[in-house]
Amino acid sequence: MQPIVLGIETSCDETAIGIVRGRTLLANVIASSVEEHARFGGVVPEIASRAHLEAMQPSIQRAVSDAKISLRDIDAIAVTAGPGLVGALLVGVASASGLAQGLGRPLYGVNHLAAHVSVDYLTHDKPTDPTIALLVSGGHSSLLQVDDITGSITKLGATMDDAAGEAFDKIARILDLGFPGGPAIDREAAKGSATALDFPRGLTTSNDWATRPYEFSFSGLKTAVARYLESTPKYVRADVAASFQEAIVDVLLLKALAACKETGINSLVIAGGVAANSRLRAVAEDRCAKAGIELRIPSPGLCTDNGAMVAALGSLMLSAGRPATRGAFDADSSLPVERVSL
Ligand code: KG4
Ligand code: ZN
Repeated sequence: MQPIVLGIETSCDETAIGIVRGRTLLANVIASSVEEHARFGGVVPEIASRAHLEAMQPSIQRAVSDAKISLRDIDAIAVTAGPGLVGALLVGVASASGLAQGLGRPLYGVNHLAAHVSVDYLTHDKPTDPTIALLVSGGHSSLLQVDDITGSITKLGATMDDAAGEAFDKIARILDLGFPGGPAIDREAAKGSATALDFPRGLTTSNDWATRPYEFSFSGLKTAVARYLESTPKYVRADVAASFQEAIVDVLLLKALAACKETGINSLVIAGGVAANSRLRAVAEDRCAKAGIELRIPSPGLCTDNGAMVAALGSLMLSAGRPATRGAFDADSSLPVERVSL
């Protein structure tokens, strides 16, 4: 029988508990406090922490009941140790430590970003090593070379300003589409034309390709959209959303495919909340097929924050024989992506 791992995720506004047996997802419970943040236009850390405290116990109980197991059946516990909001992370780490100690089971403090990439393991086979990973979330956008998801990740490049998801959220706000912006822009864009407006692709001049091929920048795009809206009172919102989305998708994939080509690694995983974007998924499929690159994107529901991804990484750590995290540890709000576990 494969080991059962319970994963706890509280890095932002989701209190999320996942339970896996090996590669099989048994439970995936997500209690989100997003509605409490919506009127502020972004996540308020204090509200998130309090919501985690309230949601933790009931969420664990529901996950255990959904998985049709008892707490004693759990073989190991994994928890997001960072990066994220420190107060929010602390609730998860404290709960996981208590549970691990109470049950006498090993505890893995793992990296949220690596967990995003490893969730693909629940849908497809173990991510082929090595692979290039395009990690695009609300807080991070980076290109990674993953030689071993349980311990060897190299950052090839990252955003120099906003994360891709952050850009979606900001543009959604100025288009009056609400928060979180990504799903709203995705829906609005489906009604518009992606070629209506030609918005800039950041860091794609020949000089940029020579000096910072894998870095991203979305601030110029954001400014261009804002200027266009100011100067065009009768703009067509769906066209702006579609053209903005196209600019982001285009540049993310240009750089991801360039990384595959340059490293000779013909495998690409796209992960993080923005990987749920329907246009990104469609264009990625098309371009990867043409370039002979094997593409893996987790199902949309597993792209945004969840506990299953933390459990998946815990399960991979366990089967790789990686040591559990020793003793008490603190959450690390700026845990670098190269540190897969503590
Ligand atoms: O990974 P995630 O759930 O949380 C972080 O770790 O940040 O990512 C959240 C981000 C938000 O910025 C949200 O707007 C974006 O992912 N997002 C999307 C879509 N769904 C979520 N962006 C574009 N299209 C989507 N369908
Ligand atoms: Zn995330």
